[in-house]
Amino acid sequence: MPDRVRIYEVGPRDGLQNEAAPIATEAKLRYIELLAAAGLREIEATSFVSPRAIPQLADADDLMRQLPRMSGIRYPVLVPNLRGLERAQAAGADAIAVFTATTDAFTQHNIGMTVDESLVTFGPVLARAGELHWWRRAYVSTAFGCPYTGRVKPERAVEVGLRLAALGADEVCFGDTIGVAVPSQVTVLANLAAERGLPLDRVAFHFHDTRGTALANVVAGLDAGIRCFDSSTGGTGGCPYAPGAAGNLATEDLVYLLDGLGLDHGVALIGVLEAARFIAAQLGRPLASKVGQAGGWDPATGAATGRPGS
Ligand code: COA
Ligand code: ZN
Repeated sequence: MPDRVRIYEVGPRDGLQNEAAPIATEAKLRYIELLAAAGLREIEATSFVSPRAIPQLADADDLMRQLPRMSGIRYPVLVPNLRGLERAQAAGADAIAVFTATTDAFTQHNIGMTVDESLVTFGPVLARAGELHWWRRAYVSTAFGCPYTGRVKPERAVEVGLRLAALGADEVCFGDTIGVAVPSQVTVLANLAAERGLPLDRVAFHFHDTRGTALANVVAGLDAGIRCFDSSTGGTGGCPYAPGAAGNLATEDLVYLLDGLGLDHGVALIGVLEAARFIAAQLGRPLASKVGQAGGWDPATGAATGRPGS
């Protein structure tokens, strides 16, 4: 298993979708530019969903039209249906993510469909994106637990993941949408996915740090052979249709961990902290992440790094 880890940044999409205060398109563009400068190579930029469902991302068309593409960077966008795909195409996107979940209760709240209905909807979306040679990701939200129905069996999460892979998804991302998972459950889910025919190089994990278990879950995922993890610079985010969902795992916390473990990922902590401070200032609140507050650490001198003035 190669040691290179992919950090899939979801700050501009997942990080902002639940924010009530309007953030100007220019500020979002600057945020994405800072993320790219930090070395992030996969940046989920926005969502082509109903502007009524997610008002904060109603500027998706403008944002994608204006976004300067850097070569070697993938800028996936969320699409819920063919209409979203058409909007994404008109705005110049070339990578998408579709999103369903393990329970009908959750998908009904989030996208107004059952899980089966969502798969019927995504079939043609993934097929069309395949014809366009786009990169295709599929989320399985509530992979460990649902805010409406409780514990989710790993068999169920893997079953939905396999169906999405069969529809053409290049990557299946299991989301701990409300941050309830613990490491042993991550191990079980990863092992089961591999056993049932979902190769682990096509699997990603998306952890929320709601209960402080996100980094521990990453370590379990790494041990199981997973090499792609989602995170949000500044630790922002959460799904408005998932009551109790707190922030995503913060990219700065993930980068600090991977650096310490000696795993290659290509992202510079100092750059991530700069982007984190930028978006926190836009949102008008202090940085919530641990490493955002403490900074990095220089083992040669013992000093904190990446903080203003340090
Ligand atoms: N882009 C823009 N508008 C869209 C759209 C798209 N891709 N798809 C549907 N719409 C519009 C419709 O035109 C309609 O608008 P109107 O009420 O002004 O006429 C409205 O959205 C509802 O569409 P409808 O087809 O009746 O579906 P719905 O109400 O069941 O909504 C979704 C379905 C999927 C469009 C909507 O639930 C949604 O966008 N959800 C996204 C949720 C999300 O992003 N959650 C966070 C990610 S975890
Ligand atoms: Zn998330």
